[in-house]
Amino acid sequence: MEKENIYILGIESSCDDTSAAILCNDRILSNVVADQKIHAEYGGVVPELASRAHQQNIVPVVHQAIEKAGITKDQLNAIAFTRGPGLMGSLLVGTSFAKSLAYGLDIPLIDVNHMQAHILAHFIEEENHKKPPFPFLATTISGGHTQIVKVTGYFEMEVLGETIDDAVGEAYDKSGKVLGLGYPAGPEIDRRAQLGNPKAYKFTKPKVGGLNFSFSGLKTAILYFVQREVEANSNFIEENLNDICSSIQYTIIGVLMDKLKLAVKQTGITHIAIGGGVSANSGIRKALKDAEKKHGWITYVPKFEYTTDNAAMIAIVGYLKYLEKDFADFDVMASARLKI
Ligand code: KG4
Ligand code: ZN
Repeated sequence: MEKENIYILGIESSCDDTSAAILCNDRILSNVVADQKIHAEYGGVVPELASRAHQQNIVPVVHQAIEKAGITKDQLNAIAFTRGPGLMGSLLVGTSFAKSLAYGLDIPLIDVNHMQAHILAHFIEEENHKKPPFPFLATTISGGHTQIVKVTGYFEMEVLGETIDDAVGEAYDKSGKVLGLGYPAGPEIDRRAQLGNPKAYKFTKPKVGGLNFSFSGLKTAILYFVQREVEANSNFIEENLNDICSSIQYTIIGVLMDKLKLAVKQTGITHIAIGGGVSANSGIRKALKDAEKKHGWITYVPKFEYTTDNAAMIAIVGYLKYLEKDFADFDVMASARLKI
């Protein structure tokens, strides 16, 4: 007998991207993301503006996702939404919308943990994408998150380490602000890093025990360093921008790799899956390739579209939970600090 097709609508609204995706079993039919340009003017996400923009975007984005998938809403089997973690005002928009639509269509509602979704995005069926075998280590690095997680099953995850202050993407963005670069600064720092000398300037790596991270001290060190140099030469930044970017990147990637090496040593697990916006970084990609050759690691990087905030990753978790009949009650509430 042929397997029945399961259609899941995924909705993501935890930060500043409004996204909706339709999955047929574990394959993506559509994944629509409306990002919010408004935050660039402020050099960071403004929560109040984010929730207003979600309100504006949610209906057209869901509508587009259904249309692009070539199905009708009556074919949906369930609706999955991001319950947390994230910004409360943003989460409320997706949560309320998902509840109303599921209630109206009389289909199950599935709550999804955003951090689990970043990891389970690796299980979206894609041409030429290899899925990590259990157990594996997952590291989620973005503007909002920095975690290393031991994954022994789809829903068996243990956080081994995480940032105690800024996320790694924030370290990029805040350093970029000091240098007068636009927001988000990560891609620009990465581009310039490849043109500069990584050892031109030395920044002390933050010292945090075990597998936790701290990036706020690094940002301050960069600020003081730049202020000092600019006092001596007002053109210091313009004249040395590529070298400064390269040295910042060298330090940040060094921190990430040190922690990953420690996690491998502690667990004996050499399958490493990465996710989050910073996984686009050329430095981390190269370091992982080198570690494959040098330490025998096997690394997994999802398609970029599924690694920044998106609803496809919410929908795949929805599908995996649907198979387990793991549904939410309609009184489920958004949770800003939801843990894995
Ligand atoms: O996953 P994402 O789109 O959104 C969340 O933060 O959840 O990640 C955005 C972050 C920003 O901080 C941005 O500066 C950083 O990812 N980023 C990069 C690169 N591309 C994006 N950081 C370093 N190198 C890159 N190539
Ligand atoms: Zn995220």
